[in-house]
Amino acid sequence: MAAATISLLVMLSLVGFVHGWPYFPLWYTHVLINNTIPGEFLTIHCNYHADDRGVHVIAPSEQYKFQFKPNVWGTTKFSCSFGWSDVSHHFNIYVQSRDYDNCDKNCKWLIKSEGPCYIKSDDFCDLYQWD
Ligand SMILES: *[C@@H]1O[C@H](CO)[C@@H](O)[C@H](O)[C@H]1NC(C)=O
Repeated sequence: MAAATISLLVMLSLVGFVHGWPYFPLWYTHVLINNTIPGEFLTIHCNYHADDRGVHVIAPSEQYKFQFKPNVWGTTKFSCSFGWSDVSHHFNIYVQSRDYDNCDKNCKWLIKSEGPCYIKSDDFCDLYQWD
């Protein structure tokens, strides 16, 4: 009985190690991106190195989302391009060291022409500069 308990604890801590400590992402993180640029279709292309999420065209007030498991080392960084009309910008939409503790499972952004705005609450977002 004691041996079974100990091996269970060993297995659980191995799972903890595999999924990252102090990062413990057993779950997926979702990044939700809402196009709030009036009357413009937004072209979004995100990748994390070879993990390329493709090109998506999002209508006004519509949402694009993708999901991933943050890595063990805390270095996950999804970089995106955002294009509309003749404008093109870049922004790192998910930086694990910046976002892991803040947004947990759901990282929600509004894309405005002046920059991406991180949704902190129902009526407040934090405006970032384009990279
Ligand atoms: C996107 O944001 C706009 C403005 O805040 C809101 O009206 C709309 O419902 C949102 N769209 C989605 C899919 O959440």
